[in-house]
Amino acid sequence: MSISPEEYAEALACLAWQIELGADEAIGEAPVNRYEEVATPRAAPVVERVAVAREPAEPAVPDTAAIAAACTSLDILHAAIEAFEGCDLKRGARNTVFSDGNPQARVMVVGEAPGRDEDRIGKPFVGRSGQLLDRMLAAIGLDRMAEDPAQAVYITNVLPWRPPQNRDPLPEEKAIMKPFLLRHIELVKPAALLMVGNPANQTLLDTAQGVTRLRGKWHEVSGIPALPIFHPAYLLRTPAKKREAWADLLMLKDRLENG
Ligand code: URA
Repeated sequence: MSISPEEYAEALACLAWQIELGADEAIGEAPVNRYEEVATPRAAPVVERVAVAREPAEPAVPDTAAIAAACTSLDILHAAIEAFEGCDLKRGARNTVFSDGNPQARVMVVGEAPGRDEDRIGKPFVGRSGQLLDRMLAAIGLDRMAEDPAQAVYITNVLPWRPPQNRDPLPEEKAIMKPFLLRHIELVKPAALLMVGNPANQTLLDTAQGVTRLRGKWHEVSGIPALPIFHPAYLLRTPAKKREAWADLLMLKDRLENG
């Protein structure tokens, strides 16, 4: 079957439109016309009183806590996450974004999830919001490229794979990946954690409260002092909030200098 250039262009435009809407997978060979589907009345279920020997139920959520606990170094943790197939986001991502910066750093930053640039390059916070994050950290003398742990920063995210169309991470995605994140923090053992944006704060502090309510004071994650701060992407959209972010950065600086 051949199609005309016009039909070809129209089909291509339809495909682009579907991708724009978030479709990222073909699930059938032939299109289904839902308007022609006829509702078939369902047969009433036959209830049988039969004693069935039950198989042990499959765990609903993969046991990432056990996998993470077995990781005794950052390299092993990185490899375990790369090999993990229990989170669907991996299937749509180009790269597993594990971390950037110096693992000896006193400060560890936890963001949300890779965006388009991070997915392409394979490192966290390399796009526009990453550039703002770097400037914010530089304002208090920190740098992800620094070799000296006192000036260095280590950066990761709650999720190592980009959610389609940058949508918010789902609760189950965060729950599945949280043990990996906690192990990551344990292995780096920073002096302070900077939790950037709602998903990082809500995941690590086990709360539904937003950063606006959480910021301005220190919390604790696995025994490590942890400070919430607005996400740089939010600050790019809402520059008036930079004032509060600056106050939070000064709290971090003070803690690093004075303990
Ligand atoms: N936003 C994040 O939270 N993390 C990234 O790595 C990039 C953007």
